[in-house]
Amino acid sequence: MRISVIGAGYVGLVTGACLAELGHVVHCTDNDSAKIAVLESGKLPIYEPGLDEIVAKNRRSGRLSFSADPATAVAQGDVIFICVGTPPLPNGDADLSSIDRVAQMIAAEAKSDKLVVEKSTVPAQTGQQLKRVLEIYGRGRGIRFHVASNPEFLREGTAVGDFLHPDRIVVGVDDETAEKQLREIYRPLLDQNFACPLHNGSCPHSNQPTWLVTTINSAELIKHASNSFLAIKISYANMVSDLAEMLGADIEQVMHGVGLDPRIGPHFFKPGLGFGGFCLPKDLQAFVRLAERHGVDFSMLREAERINHQRIESFVEKLRHSLWVLKGKKIGLLGLAFKANTDDIRFAPSIELIKRLHNEGVRVSAFDPQASEKISGQFPDLNCTADAYESANGADALLIVTEWPEFRDLDWKRIHQIMARPLVLDGRNLLSAEEMRALGFEYQSVGRPRVAQAMPTTSA
Ligand code: UGA
Repeated sequence: MRISVIGAGYVGLVTGACLAELGHVVHCTDNDSAKIAVLESGKLPIYEPGLDEIVAKNRRSGRLSFSADPATAVAQGDVIFICVGTPPLPNGDADLSSIDRVAQMIAAEAKSDKLVVEKSTVPAQTGQQLKRVLEIYGRGRGIRFHVASNPEFLREGTAVGDFLHPDRIVVGVDDETAEKQLREIYRPLLDQNFACPLHNGSCPHSNQPTWLVTTINSAELIKHASNSFLAIKISYANMVSDLAEMLGADIEQVMHGVGLDPRIGPHFFKPGLGFGGFCLPKDLQAFVRLAERHGVDFSMLREAERINHQRIESFVEKLRHSLWVLKGKKIGLLGLAFKANTDDIRFAPSIELIKRLHNEGVRVSAFDPQASEKISGQFPDLNCTADAYESANGADALLIVTEWPEFRDLDWKRIHQIMARPLVLDGRNLLSAEEMRALGFEYQSVGRPRVAQAMPTTSA
């Protein structure tokens, strides 16, 4: 099928490249011409594992193209996916002005019938507004606009795999044509008859996704309700972890035990510095605002948000407790991205942490395998080092902020030698407490006992 994708950010680029990989002819556009220039030069404006190969391969085959010209995109696609940003407004509402602008542009440029699909995360009832804008601004030209909601459930860092092996494909539609077109687009995934580029064609994941057809309003709500539930799970784990720490229990054991109940499930129970990124924090806020506007009490979500904000505060207090005086100390930070395997720092816990440490008069030197360049835009004076050892050198404490797996494999003996004080605060429970203590570190993590427990749990 001929598809256009408007917005070439994390969602749009992955969506466009993967749809091309499934055999469609895809044109991606973005109003950031610098981003398009990067893409046309054969590079990627973001770091997302596996995406570069798929983009390169599909550009070579001619199935994937880019331009900064929205009119070309509207002309080329029978189906147009809107993947523009919906950032938070100061009051927490989602800013839908980009969607509005794109809808008006599609209405003005379309010369044939179009299916317009919202992929951007939007509050319920946006689809209705989208349809109205298309009809009003495109009136009198005999063009039919179909609208659908097709929320994405991609996680940054594993977005390509998530797209090609989804658990569910949710399509919110109000007519059969839209459903048929979307089914055709996703047919290779539904029939499982495509060669997965991630596994050289012999993919171990053969689960057939659930094809869920709903109303547009319901599809929009599914997306917000999913992200908010994930946020609640994380905040719940963080809340219990505070108590576990007080009682000398081990949160990893506790949440493992809780998650063994299939009604609860094991995922999104990792305590630490809390959830960041451009999805969970803003979607939670927008969901609360939506509920408030309709007079529904969503204080449960407010509480999840409050617990999340409080993570940084309690981490800094832990640091103060160990170091006594923070002013003038040198602190190394390992990890800046909001999670591993991405260069994204939007709403990353590292940002709040750096602000807090700077306010305390701490000298911060930070290392991240991918995100250093992006953080410099936010903190031009931050000392970003070339590797983890440089951050640790002469430091009074080293803080693990992002769970990059490679931090596990650092030469921790060497780090012990080069630190002014061998204190490690692990905000992601990445390292083994026993191993760190055996190496002579003062080591603290989140929700785990300070002294190792003699009896590990084993599953029968
Ligand atoms: C999230 C959802 O997981 C996706 O399903 C959704 O499609 C996406 O938002 C979106 O709306 O676009 P993402 O923001 O990429 O994906 O990141 P997550 O993997 O959800 O992690 C979010 C944050 O929660 C990270 O800061 C992570 O470190 C933190 N987290 C995650 C925890 O603190 N504990 C956990 O157990 C899991």
